[in-house]
Amino acid sequence: MLAMNYRGPYRVRADHKPYPEILHPDDAIVRVTRSCICGSDLHLYHGLVPDTRVGMTFGHEFIGIVEEIGPSVQKLKVGDHVIVPFNVACGKCVFCEQQMYGNCHESNSQATAVGGIFGYSHTAGGYDGGQAEYVRVPYADVGPTVIPAEMHPDDAVLLTDVVPTGYQAAEMGAIKPGDTVVVFGAGPVGIMAAKCAWLFGAGRVIVIDHIEYRLEFVRNYAQCEAYNFRSLEDPVLFIKKTTDWIGADVCIDAVGCEAAGSALQTITGVKLMLQAGAATALHWAINSVKKGGVVSIVGVYGPTGNLIPIGNVVNKGITIRANQASVKRLLPRLIEHIKEGRLDPKAIITHRVPLEEVGDAYHIFSAKLDNCIKTILIPPSAGI
Ligand SMILES: NC(=O)c1ccc[n+]([C@@H]2O[C@H](COP(=O)([O-])OP(=O)(O)OC[C@H]3O[C@@H](n4cnc5c(N)ncnc54)[C@H](O)[C@@H]3O)[C@@H](O)[C@H]2O)c1
Ligand SMILES: [Zn+2]
Ligand SMILES: [Zn+2]
Repeated sequence: MLAMNYRGPYRVRADHKPYPEILHPDDAIVRVTRSCICGSDLHLYHGLVPDTRVGMTFGHEFIGIVEEIGPSVQKLKVGDHVIVPFNVACGKCVFCEQQMYGNCHESNSQATAVGGIFGYSHTAGGYDGGQAEYVRVPYADVGPTVIPAEMHPDDAVLLTDVVPTGYQAAEMGAIKPGDTVVVFGAGPVGIMAAKCAWLFGAGRVIVIDHIEYRLEFVRNYAQCEAYNFRSLEDPVLFIKKTTDWIGADVCIDAVGCEAAGSALQTITGVKLMLQAGAATALHWAINSVKKGGVVSIVGVYGPTGNLIPIGNVVNKGITIRANQASVKRLLPRLIEHIKEGRLDPKAIITHRVPLEEVGDAYHIFSAKLDNCIKTILIPPSAGI
């Protein structure tokens, strides 16, 4: 079968790989109908995630048709068209029981933090991902959810990660009616977080980035204010000024470890790897939120330490909330939001690329060329 193949930093291509097999009675094999490239894939592509092995197939955002099931699978049927959450979750452990599907204790048992993630290095369990024609889906009765009949597949594929992650970013912010919410990052996740902030009653939503076409997009899509940090002298000062020197009620970090905007952070975090990525957006979030405010982090950081202003967190009485999104927990209410027309995820898709051209697709998304926001990969056997 055809699958994306990681050959080393900045080198990916479509190759022929063996068809995946049922390895456990709870597995299913899914024929992928759509997959996406995510900002999280870029951390892998840029060689920043430890233990990303050559030969790995990335892709944690995919939908597909169930092709085969293991003997213990009860709910899923061959032929079902399913949303597959990016989290690999057992559904039974102490964390899954609390609906913390991103922190499953079984699916990545060598690790103490994150659970298993499709197509995300061996630090997240080493599961091959869905940027392929076929993929093995473990715990098939837990995560996969049948796509509602009336739902467009382009909306469905964005329910595997971007929509739940943006929504959970807003949810973790504990937004109160009228709150000022600042979202750092106008990538797909930040765009969705800005859109979802309104669903929780925000009174003002401000997005910060430095890519003009993304700022323009989010202004229209999420009806918010959007500013280029390169044209602000100091984004923290700007946010204080515009909130009567109080600070934002809620700040969301939807950037993570590859943030631009500070030479010091970039050199120590990305070039020399003395810390686990550049924490520039997180600094800005901590420093521009009000005393007693909430910083919600969905941007991904490496497993080792970052230099962050913990003294300010203590002295300002900030609440920090963070996690990988718990996709399965959020699916029922997000399906409702889409049905009711409150969310229109597919509007963020700018590129549709045949899986054969996966190398070009990564380059375009990584270099932010051609006004790229979200790319969908279509395998040759997708059939739809
Ligand atoms: N927690 C989760 O479950 C989860 C799920 C999906 C993605 N993520 C993470 O969320 C982050 C965003 O993902 P994405 O797909 O939107 O990625 P993306 O790379 O498309 O977007 C990131 C955006 O941040 C902007 N940016 C860079 N430095 C900035 C700064 N200092 N201030 C403000 N904006 C800045 C970039 O210009 C870019 O537009 C990534 O770190 C990704 O790994 C987390
Ligand atoms: Zn993703
Ligand atoms: Zn579990």
